[in-house]
Amino acid sequence: MIRVEDATKLYGRAGADGAAVHALNGVNLEIKAGEFVSIMGPSGCGKSTLLHVLGGLDRLSSGGIFLDDVAIHTLDENGLTDLRRRKIGFIFQFFNLLPTLTVEENVRLPGLLQMVSGVDIDERSAKLLESVGLAHRARHRLHQLSGGEMQRAALARALLLRPPVLLADEPTGNLDSEASAGVVKLFRQIGETHGTTIVMVTHSREVAASAHRMITMRDGRVVA
Ligand SMILES: Nc1ncnc2c1ncn2[C@@H]1O[C@H](COP(=O)(O)OP(=O)(O)OP(=O)(O)O)[C@@H](O)[C@H]1O
Ligand SMILES: [Mg+2]
Repeated sequence: MIRVEDATKLYGRAGADGAAVHALNGVNLEIKAGEFVSIMGPSGCGKSTLLHVLGGLDRLSSGGIFLDDVAIHTLDENGLTDLRRRKIGFIFQFFNLLPTLTVEENVRLPGLLQMVSGVDIDERSAKLLESVGLAHRARHRLHQLSGGEMQRAALARALLLRPPVLLADEPTGNLDSEASAGVVKLFRQIGETHGTTIVMVTHSREVAASAHRMITMRDGRVVA
């Protein structure tokens, strides 16, 4: 499903001043369809950068990324936008929810924006809110939620359109161990029911261990 070949991402300009950062420094990786992979590694080792380039939010400096055999490093901006809409669900550390909308409005939003037909957005959104434990908060506005509740709302929203690929950056970062276990369980269910390919960055060894496979990064490389 996902193949990364000798990917590098250089921020800044190489030179004597040491300002350049090799956020990715020759990453090679293959992830099968339906696989649930976790990525661990010290702060600054390139985990978020890798998710961004996988999701077409940022570009490589060199190397290639293939998603379903589409060479996404060769796509132009329109191509990348289209790819993100059709294939990718994102869950980020800073969740991009809209504070003035209610929880259920936030979750339904991707469905409204894309005007999907033949899908009962309201019903699906209600089920997702139930499974992330937020059914009782559906009509609350975002700013009335705790950090962990917002994170779970972001998760429900990312899953609404059942993207084939789900990219999650520390999706349990603000959650206690019980809520974390709930999110991980939901990921596994989504994977099993819909064959979703999931790449999840986490700092928690326990959360990471619940994936099918754990990848460790260091200094812009996959080391294990
Ligand atoms: N826009 C940018 N400009 C310059 N350097 C950047 C930029 N984004 C990231 N970096 C650098 O690239 C490296 C990798 O950053 P990245 O955000 O991928 O790390 P990370 O593994 O996700 O860390 P964390 O666990 O703290 O989230 C870091 O050294 C960071 O300072
Ligand atoms: Mg990060």
